[in-house]
Amino acid sequence: MEVRIFDNKENLGEVMAEILCSRVIAKPNLTFGFATGASPLPVYGNLIEWYKSGRVSFKDITTFNLDEYCDLPRDDKNSYYTFMHENLFNHIDVKEENINFLNGNAENFDKECNRYDCLIRDKGIDVQLLGLGRNGHIGFNEPSTKFTKDCFRVKLSDSTIAANSIYFDENPMPHYALTMGTASIMRSKEIFMIATGESKKDAIYEMINGDISPLCPASVLQLHPNVHVFIDLEAAKRL
Ligand code: GLP
Repeated sequence: MEVRIFDNKENLGEVMAEILCSRVIAKPNLTFGFATGASPLPVYGNLIEWYKSGRVSFKDITTFNLDEYCDLPRDDKNSYYTFMHENLFNHIDVKEENINFLNGNAENFDKECNRYDCLIRDKGIDVQLLGLGRNGHIGFNEPSTKFTKDCFRVKLSDSTIAANSIYFDENPMPHYALTMGTASIMRSKEIFMIATGESKKDAIYEMINGDISPLCPASVLQLHPNVHVFIDLEAAKRL
């Protein structure tokens, strides 16, 4: 696990975007796994800059997002579909038909998860971006007694509901979501994690120095051969 510590999230975003763009330039039809939350925003902002200045094109990439809330209309301002379009997809030349999301409004969640797993297995994710929950979650894989495998429907933990409900000012925050499982994430060829701010310092410490345990789902990344952890000074406070 490579750990890089940056003075601030702006520097982090610039450096990671440069690396991600170099991956796309080397392989224009790259498959990305994308993450939501505040952490990747500086990276997405810089990817947009790279595209707008003509240094990279995303027209042949495929994307899979990690997770999506259940029972929230796709065009709700808090859906991850909306988040990704507003913060990245609407500003670059990725093709809409190459953008993949779990459908949190599917009639049959098992079927929907299976559909997504098959697509991911078929394409294979080259580069997966990850944020980190304060409780050590990745995607929406919450602390639990055993590691998860493929995509599944999850009941969100109190910690996650408390952290994410600040974004829900009109409607109550959903308590369920669909997420890629831990094994789905671990199958990615290369993983970039972004964690910034003091609220992540315990999860970062546990992920890097703790036992590999489903109580800190991100600790499983210790077993992946190609993980880059990008954090700021605040998130690095306990290292
Ligand atoms: C949500 C997402 C995660 C994300 C996490 C951290 O729970 N499902 O994928 O990593 O939030 O979000 P933030 O970066 O806003 O702290």
